[in-house]
Amino acid sequence: MDAIEVIRAKRDGSELTTAQIDWVIAAYTRGDVADEQMSALAMAILLNGMNRREIADWTQAMIRSGERMDWSGLDRPTADKHSTGGVGDKITLPLAPLVAACGAYVPQLSGRGLGHTGGTLDKLESIPGWRESLSNEQMLHVLRAAGAVICAAGSGLAPADRKLYALRDVTGTVESIPLIASSIMSKKIAEGTGSLVLDVKVGSGAFMKTPESARELAETMVALGTDAGVRTVALLTAMDRPLGLAVGNALEVEESVEVLAGGGPADVVELTVRLAREMLEAAGVSGKDPEDALRDGSAMDAWRRMITAQGGDPDATLPRAAETMTVAAPASGVLAALDAYAVGLAAWRLGAGRARKEDPVSPGAAVTLHAKPGDAVREGQPLLTLHTDEPERFERALEALEGGYAVGASAQELLPLVIDRVTP
Ligand code: URA
Repeated sequence: MDAIEVIRAKRDGSELTTAQIDWVIAAYTRGDVADEQMSALAMAILLNGMNRREIADWTQAMIRSGERMDWSGLDRPTADKHSTGGVGDKITLPLAPLVAACGAYVPQLSGRGLGHTGGTLDKLESIPGWRESLSNEQMLHVLRAAGAVICAAGSGLAPADRKLYALRDVTGTVESIPLIASSIMSKKIAEGTGSLVLDVKVGSGAFMKTPESARELAETMVALGTDAGVRTVALLTAMDRPLGLAVGNALEVEESVEVLAGGGPADVVELTVRLAREMLEAAGVSGKDPEDALRDGSAMDAWRRMITAQGGDPDATLPRAAETMTVAAPASGVLAALDAYAVGLAAWRLGAGRARKEDPVSPGAAVTLHAKPGDAVREGQPLLTLHTDEPERFERALEALEGGYAVGASAQELLPLVIDRVTP
């Protein structure tokens, strides 16, 4: 086989055979198919799509490019959650220890933020001492100690996806449902979880802007997981406005700890509890209800054990940005809209996100919300606080927010927090 033949087949709208897919992924991983050839193939896939069989073959080939983790030696079922990414989406932080406190093991491999969306590892790294990089033995040790572990995927897991994702990022080929679904699911299946709940975000702050495209992505991923023997369900959830009141690394950790302490913003609590119930049901674990585990402190205990076992100090004071600026309500009325993308872009420009994978992030950079859409506001009251270490960043953050919020007589229509549920 040769790469040009495979590229031409997809360029001309043909189905790729299982043999072609197996060959091209293995050859690309070895370095025998060049980046420019894989870019051309990714663009042909973005433009012409893949059917379910091709997507399943592509996913399996990426899994086979590396190791597959195995948690079958554990004495309780495993469950994981994956979010397709959003603004203020810190749900993994309270969710993993919460589900552990209710009786399932949570082996979670997480990622970093890119662009306007935040990443779980960036948030947790604002805790002094916390380590994201663990060997498989260390992961097992943390799982046994705390019931949950959140860390980076090692280089041996789906290396084909690692290479391909970096390439897609710089060739305009991220936004393809077959490529997104196979990328996410190859890592989650290789991670070895027994059950998986997908949180597919919908709205301006998400990859998928409409419920229809999000449903197509969710159905594709649920089918891939189910066919691979992972009990998989998906929720479509709102990302037209930010989740919670904090958007930024250290402040999102603080908000997560508030949830674990039995408080926190209503939307973060509702989604955390809902996803926890879905994970426990998918794992077949019943007994303790997540609301009870938040109330009785057992979820907080699991969090503290997990952070400590990964070298972090759960009592440490987290970094704060040196400078703040307040954005005031321009009129009295109701906060009619607060756009997730605008707030995410502002937080990114303040230093919370990175432009390139290797850039550092500022733990204290953030946007905090003082009102949510639908709340009554008075002219001049603080709507948002911007946090940064570099005051020259304020201007570009303010530009990002232009047109991103409005005060009016009533709130614009919002998506329901949980829009839909997709099962096999
Ligand atoms: N996250 C991934 O892991 N892969 C994608 O393609 C998109 C989001």
